[in-house]
Amino acid sequence: MKDNPVLDLLMSRASIRRYKSDDVPTDLVEAVVRAGRQAPFTGQMYSVIATRDPEKRAKLPPLLGHLATAAPVFFLLCMDLRKLEKFVVAGGGRMQAADLSLLFWGIQDVAYVGENMVIAAESLGLGTCFLGSAPWVSRQLAELFDLPERVYPIVGMVMGYPAERPPVRPRLPLRYVLHWDGYRDLSRDDVDAALEVMDAGLIREGYYHKYDASADPGRIAEDYGWREHLPYKYGNLPRDLRDLLAALSEGGIDLIPRGDGRE
Ligand SMILES: Cc1cc2nc3c(=O)[nH]c(=O)nc-3n(C[C@H](O)[C@H](O)[C@H](O)COP(=O)(O)O)c2cc1C
Repeated sequence: MKDNPVLDLLMSRASIRRYKSDDVPTDLVEAVVRAGRQAPFTGQMYSVIATRDPEKRAKLPPLLGHLATAAPVFFLLCMDLRKLEKFVVAGGGRMQAADLSLLFWGIQDVAYVGENMVIAAESLGLGTCFLGSAPWVSRQLAELFDLPERVYPIVGMVMGYPAERPPVRPRLPLRYVLHWDGYRDLSRDDVDAALEVMDAGLIREGYYHKYDASADPGRIAEDYGWREHLPYKYGNLPRDLRDLLAALSEGGIDLIPRGDGRE
């Protein structure tokens, strides 16, 4: 395949967790969000909160971890059903779609914007990292950033000039994700082989060990990899689903279909 700078950028990107203190100029922040805005959308039902304000950012680590202030720019990517509803009403309609179906589309609108922002930032010499805990601390984030009802935090993102050059992280081999002409289930041998690929790359980098060190030095062994991490991450239920549903409901998002649309 011929030289392709876009593919090269995509294939060499890595999440950045250590940043220089250099500020990111407003025109670059705006260029990144403009590129985000051009992502495919269902209803443009998203809003991006951006802050460089030290006082606001100082309130983030208890909610999202120390990474939230590692870079000079923090974004909160929100699903924005409020904005969508205003456009529907202005067009003479009444919101009829159930919030549960909007959630599927809204999360996608946010996600594609977010990934476009990641790639745009990378092309400008900036690094990024997502912060996935936002939905579980939605009430506190809503207070901090004046989010009204029906504007719901989906994911945080930090952005700045990288102070590290991590290797490209491993992925499942192509045949585990690309199924030609129909789904092919994995055997136990396939699973073990894939875990070996993932662990080889992550343990070589010392990935989990390295980034955990600042929070609780020595807690994670150097040979801790994906095989060990997945059961920890997905084999426990650290957060109560009812809390999440309650937070969504307090944010004005009603997941129980009413049948007659919203009043
Ligand atoms: C929705 C989402 C949430 C994430 N949340 C976090 C996070 O809270 N902390 C973190 O260090 N990395 C977070 N990440 C980054 C992933 O850990 C990272 O993308 C993955 O390990 C692959 O590494 P790479 O991006 O360097 O290829 C998140 C990524 C996504 C897509």
